[in-house]
Amino acid sequence: MRIIALMNQKGGVGKTTTTVNLGAAIAEAGKKVLLIDLDPQAHLTINYGVEPSAEIVSLYNVLIEDRSILEAIHQVQNNVALIPSSIDLAAAEIELVSVLGREQILKKRLESAQPDFDYVLLDCPPSLGLLTLNALSVANEVIIPMQPHFLALQGVGKLLETVHLVSRRMNPGLKVAGIVLTMFDSQTKLTGEVVNDLSSFIESAKGKPLPWASARIFKSKIRRNIKLAESPSFGQTILTYDPTSNGAADYRALAKEILGMEGTAVAPGTVVATALPIANSALPIESTAGSPSSIGNPQSAVGNPSKPKSPPKPKLAVLVSPEEAAKLKAAHKVPETATNPT
Ligand SMILES: Nc1ncnc2c1ncn2[C@@H]1O[C@H](COP(=O)(O)OP(=O)(O)OP(=O)(O)O)[C@@H](O)[C@H]1O
Ligand SMILES: [Mg+2]
Repeated sequence: MRIIALMNQKGGVGKTTTTVNLGAAIAEAGKKVLLIDLDPQAHLTINYGVEPSAEIVSLYNVLIEDRSILEAIHQVQNNVALIPSSIDLAAAEIELVSVLGREQILKKRLESAQPDFDYVLLDCPPSLGLLTLNALSVANEVIIPMQPHFLALQGVGKLLETVHLVSRRMNPGLKVAGIVLTMFDSQTKLTGEVVNDLSSFIESAKGKPLPWASARIFKSKIRRNIKLAESPSFGQTILTYDPTSNGAADYRALAKEILGMEGTAVAPGTVVATALPIANSALPIESTAGSPSSIGNPQSAVGNPSKPKSPPKPKLAVLVSPEEAAKLKAAHKVPETATNPT
């Protein structure tokens, strides 16, 4: 079972649109898909025509009330099941504040119920809070939807730091499968510059014990397509709303690419090179080329549109604040927890 978190703490970048339509396209290819809505906004739930009311068993009931995940699974289409969100989920972070192991509740529920799916897609909220941590703890892959525009990379450093910490502390098999470019417009110069910056960043991580060392920019870009914005209000995916649109073609192509990675996917719980003791961390907290802090640089063409062209390598910028850096450094001194099988 491949468990993929669609994650980016930046809002409105296409996480939900990608979860909805990638899920539908993978299901169309004959795979059994479970979609989990971790966002209290419940857009994924609504997009599949499900009313996010307190009446139905939702993710909230699973996380807070110890209900089995099987009770919360709603079959919404052929090959597609959904665990809906509800507005109550917004309170979950506060309600769980004193619960030990609160970052791993979803993982425990999934493990104990062992639902039978080929793919689980997790639609994360636009934050790096507890709900996103629950997604990262159970996922074996992360896909980052990203809109290639001015300041698109801002915050990606923080996102990758979070993935790295979770991979070290709780989920050594976690890896970043790749970045999917959304609302893509190949005509703009800035798009090319963002892609260049991203490519050199990914290239610089190759061979290093980092969760994004084997990440890719997916060849299938999701073009801007009004049909993708229209379909949710009809409670439909793009595949039924307009099966011949560019949006449908792009998500089918992305699904094909992701299905094609099956042989290379890291199995859940597999210990990979990232499961090193924290003291040996290869993650530089200060700026170093190839570190997450090195992208989204205000000196680069991406951060500064007046610059004539991208530098060959992304330059240095510390995206974590000094306080955050101090916290992360302190965290690195803590001995590895028992959750690390090594
Ligand atoms: N390729 C596209 N072409 C046109 N519109 C798009 C495309 N992808 C997404 N949109 C629209 O952009 C808006 C934001 O997309 P979406 O809700 O998927 O982002 P999100 O990252 O899930 O947002 P949030 O962070 O709020 O959860 C929506 O109105 C959606 O319909
Ligand atoms: Mg969303």
